[in-house]
Amino acid sequence: MTDTITLIATAKFGLENVVREELAGLGYGRLRVFDGGVELDAALADIPRLNLWLRSADRVLLKVAEFEARTFDELFEQTKALPWEEWIGVDGRFPIIAKSVQSLLRSARSCQSIVKKAVVERLKAHYHTDWFPETGAEYVIQVSVRYDVVTLTLDTSGAGLHKRGYRAAAVEAPLKETFAAGLVLLSQWQPGELLIDPMCGSGTILIEAALLARNIAPGLQRDFAAEDWPIIPKTVWREARETARAAQLPPTEGLIAGYDVMETAVLLSQANAQKAGVADDITFAQKDVRDLWIDRQNGVLISNPPYGVRMDEFQAINQVYISLNKTFRKKWGWSVNILTADEKFPDYFKRSRPDRARRFYNGRIPVHYYQYDAKP
Ligand SMILES: C[S@@+](CC[C@H](N)C(=O)[O-])C[C@H]1O[C@@H](n2cnc3c(N)ncnc32)[C@H](O)[C@@H]1O
Repeated sequence: MTDTITLIATAKFGLENVVREELAGLGYGRLRVFDGGVELDAALADIPRLNLWLRSADRVLLKVAEFEARTFDELFEQTKALPWEEWIGVDGRFPIIAKSVQSLLRSARSCQSIVKKAVVERLKAHYHTDWFPETGAEYVIQVSVRYDVVTLTLDTSGAGLHKRGYRAAAVEAPLKETFAAGLVLLSQWQPGELLIDPMCGSGTILIEAALLARNIAPGLQRDFAAEDWPIIPKTVWREARETARAAQLPPTEGLIAGYDVMETAVLLSQANAQKAGVADDITFAQKDVRDLWIDRQNGVLISNPPYGVRMDEFQAINQVYISLNKTFRKKWGWSVNILTADEKFPDYFKRSRPDRARRFYNGRIPVHYYQYDAKP
């Protein structure tokens, strides 16, 4: 087997270029961005590295093959021709997940069972057995069919990369950690600058910022599917973890602050920050955004105000917007970044039009990330 492999860092719609920037920052070149991810040439040792270090990506997939297929026979034969035994051991578990978009092979379920059959046939011939107990390491095979092109990948991450392991519990509507990291990376904030989230909920945005400031690899506290793969020596994982631990920087006291009107949210944020190892980097306090008092001329605000459903909630949210406008209207040295489903936010925040308005989905809800840059 060659040591040169192709990896795909999958990304939430709208965060692909943030993932590309992250990969470039980690030293990777020849990055191919597509809707939903970034593809790159890599070595086996990059599987631990990317899983440990990527902040805004959803998963790291190993690309096994890409080919055109318009019939189930073509799908079967081309899948069976691939050297699955190089990855999957005789006791490996290999569940299949399939999706199909705009293709003649329309039924994802049929693609799933054809690929399963083809891989089983291949492994039968190689291992000279008819029986696969599937009790060993897990190799989730993802089958993606788009415009009649089939991409077969193995999921190296296991649980999605947002599962960092620091969030014990969450308030209502928490952001995914990977999304929160993406919002921080899309902002003008640089470690060493003041950062606040006045509606911090479970603290996700600030914890992700603190991890970034401390150069803490976000995956250090969890494990990954490919850790059980015999093909990647345990020492490679150990070394990647040791290198990551050695790269951590000391705490940056007093520059990151979070507030929330709910005491439970403040306690939760503190507990989460503690678990993430950044409790010393963030100050949390109970405060209503209407009582927020800013005496500094420069800083960055990143926040995700509540979305309203009922009338009384709308009124409360309008009050939140009015307060933000009052506090920051003349603070030109502050960059303000608001993630909200509410398209009315720019009508309330009158400092200027947003410098950028990006669109995302938070779960199934379409949301906007309104960004107002700091101006001299
Ligand atoms: C959508 S949640 C934020 C979720 C957060 N980004 C996270 O990932 O956990 C909105 C938060 O705003 C808080 N909130 C609502 N009204 C507020 C107010 N007037 N002042 C401060 N916080 C408020 C709520 O308690 C809730 O925790």
